[in-house]
Amino acid sequence: MSHLLSIEQLSAREIHQLLDCALRMKRERGAHPSQPLAGQTWALIFTKSSTRTRVSFEVGIRELGGYPMFLSKNDIQLGRGEPIRDTARVLGRMVHGAIIRTFAQQDVIDFAHYSGIPTINALTDDEHPCQILADLLTIMERLHGLDGRKVAFIGDGFSNMTRSWLWAAKHLGFELSVAAPAACQPPAEFLAKLNAPNVTITDDPAQAAQGAHVINTDVWLSMGQEDQTAKELEFAGFEVNAELLIHAAPGHLVLHCLPAYRGKEISAEVLELHADTIFQQAENRLHAQKAVLTSLTE
Ligand code: CP
Ligand code: NVA
Repeated sequence: MSHLLSIEQLSAREIHQLLDCALRMKRERGAHPSQPLAGQTWALIFTKSSTRTRVSFEVGIRELGGYPMFLSKNDIQLGRGEPIRDTARVLGRMVHGAIIRTFAQQDVIDFAHYSGIPTINALTDDEHPCQILADLLTIMERLHGLDGRKVAFIGDGFSNMTRSWLWAAKHLGFELSVAAPAACQPPAEFLAKLNAPNVTITDDPAQAAQGAHVINTDVWLSMGQEDQTAKELEFAGFEVNAELLIHAAPGHLVLHCLPAYRGKEISAEVLELHADTIFQQAENRLHAQKAVLTSLTE
């Protein structure tokens, strides 16, 4: 693997290898037998806010022997309009890898192309691959795998999170049911390209949650959409709350990538009841990303 730009571009084999490596990273934390990033500097170029992604990458890079360099868009000339391809050609001659959080997926693709260094998508409008790896790791730990499991996603059916989940279902073959308001469902062209018979789309959260072993949600308005208040109105009835969870399978997990808006996509009661899983999911960002960093240096 030379970059991690999306879940779409990974194979099932690569996903399983990354998850196995992440489990090893977690077990060996504090006692890693090697330092694959020794002597390396990795740039974190962020044009959107972050708590989990920034901290887990900075800590992970250090734990693997490297040095993280955080660059918000306003710290560098990118914020003044210097093109991504020029930024990439400069950084590619100085640092050993880059982790990018931005809006357009094309910017991450262009950065990887023009820089020639390992590039990781730390969230774009299209995908959030690092988060999905952490989510899958959490499911492996809690449910011992995805075979025979049903995952439900309740909320924005075409956000970066949902798209990454859709591609994960395509590659790994588990049943995925997405419940989203009609205006926020994946378009027909996307579903035709996905071509995954194990994926269903509905506007009925109870139907998606029915018999689900994992109930997953995310904010209704992703970063960059905060002023789309009309979109938020579409989500009446889509809160993950105790009433909805009655439909889920016994022993179900509730996942949320965080940050969460209690009383919107998830009730405060459900978030607190499932906090052990949700914060394990957040911690797993560190282990999953250390696996990604390791695989990009092999
Ligand atoms: N889940 C996630 O990516 O969190 P941050 O936005 O805090 O990085
Ligand atoms: N869909 C959310 C994920 C945040 C981690 C967003 O893009 O804001």
